[in-house]
Amino acid sequence: MKIGCPKEIKPQEFRVGMTPNAAQEAVARGHEVLIETDAGMGSGFDNDAYMAAGARIVDTAAEVFATADMIVKVKEPQAVERKMLREGQLLFTYLHLAPDPDQTHDLLASGCTAIAYETVTDAAGGLPLLAPMSEVAGRLAPQVGSWTLQKANGGRGVLMGGVPGVGPAKVVVIGGGVVGTHAAKIAAGMGADVTVLDRSLPRLRYLDDVFGNTFNNQYSTAGATAELIQTADMVIGAVLIPGAAAPKLVTRAQLSTMKPGAVLVDVAIDQGGCFETSKATTHADPIYEVDGIMHYCVANMPGAVARTSTIALGNATMPFLLSLADKGWKQACQDDPHLLAGLNVHAGQLTYYAVGKALGIDVVSPNVVIKS
Ligand SMILES: NC(=O)c1ccc[n+]([C@@H]2O[C@H](COP(=O)([O-])OP(=O)(O)OC[C@H]3O[C@@H](n4cnc5c(N)ncnc54)[C@H](O)[C@@H]3O)[C@@H](O)[C@H]2O)c1
Repeated sequence: MKIGCPKEIKPQEFRVGMTPNAAQEAVARGHEVLIETDAGMGSGFDNDAYMAAGARIVDTAAEVFATADMIVKVKEPQAVERKMLREGQLLFTYLHLAPDPDQTHDLLASGCTAIAYETVTDAAGGLPLLAPMSEVAGRLAPQVGSWTLQKANGGRGVLMGGVPGVGPAKVVVIGGGVVGTHAAKIAAGMGADVTVLDRSLPRLRYLDDVFGNTFNNQYSTAGATAELIQTADMVIGAVLIPGAAAPKLVTRAQLSTMKPGAVLVDVAIDQGGCFETSKATTHADPIYEVDGIMHYCVANMPGAVARTSTIALGNATMPFLLSLADKGWKQACQDDPHLLAGLNVHAGQLTYYAVGKALGIDVVSPNVVIKS
């Protein structure tokens, strides 16, 4: 198969769909890999690294789209990229179609087959191609939060681990899923006194079994949250209710009960945020203050560490990518129901129910499509 990887063109996107290692694996299995020139530069992979892996560097995205059987990307195709997709071509990337009717209609009109990273599943009921970015954002949260806690940045001037004779920072993590667990691990590793709140008892049992002595956990209620935030130096928002906007768990009125200069890091901002005073910010201007409380609300946190994020995403996508290239999408999806769960669009038909429901478009079952 001819596999093409264009340079990402969405503003502030520095990741790339294929690492040189992924290119090398594909080439070793007899596939041809085309990389747009400088596609990997934002993640620290130069053209030489791809050429050493056996890939061919091409000058333009147009050449990649015109030549490749499968396009591998990170972000959803932008309007100019969608115009270059064609019937029979396979697209493997994040799509997030439900809130994006323009993209959905363009993909349907193109006749391509599109498999969305975010809806591929695993045997444990998780989303294996979303998890790496939650891991990155979770681990980054205490890092950016501790920077915000510094006096010069508007914070309380508290050191995460304290020093001998001075106690550590108190960190509260609301939501103990992928983001929350990784945030708690890193905050505890920095020496902070960490408490994780979650509403799922099975999740709290898991956290207690695995991290019992590393950080505390508590059942999440409005009362428990109200009490804990009064003494917190940092509160990390990491909740998710699948398919819904994040619930507002800290109100503006509650900010006055917190210590001046305390920090809110709202990782759930991509679902609207879980603090009433959260509004999305960018890496260029990441923090702001409301009622004496500092807020960090960057919606694409993994972009700050593009190289780590690219490699982490590549590790997760590579087995699926190789299966698609080796077998063709239809056989690969017949063999793997978790990959089939990623099928969103095929030959002008929508094949993902939640997207159809959100956009009022008829859906054809993916099981029917793979047998046709
Ligand atoms: N800002 C970014 O760059 C970025 C990057 C990755 C993920 N995210 C977002 O972070 C959020 C968390 O993602 P995740 O992968 O950890 O999800 P997850 O499903 O693994 O975990 C969410 C957890 O929240 C818990 N929860 C739900 N309601 C709660 C409540 N009221 N109180 C306490 N806990 C509650 C759930 O029980 C679950 O354990 C999502 O909104 C995700 O989109 C943001």
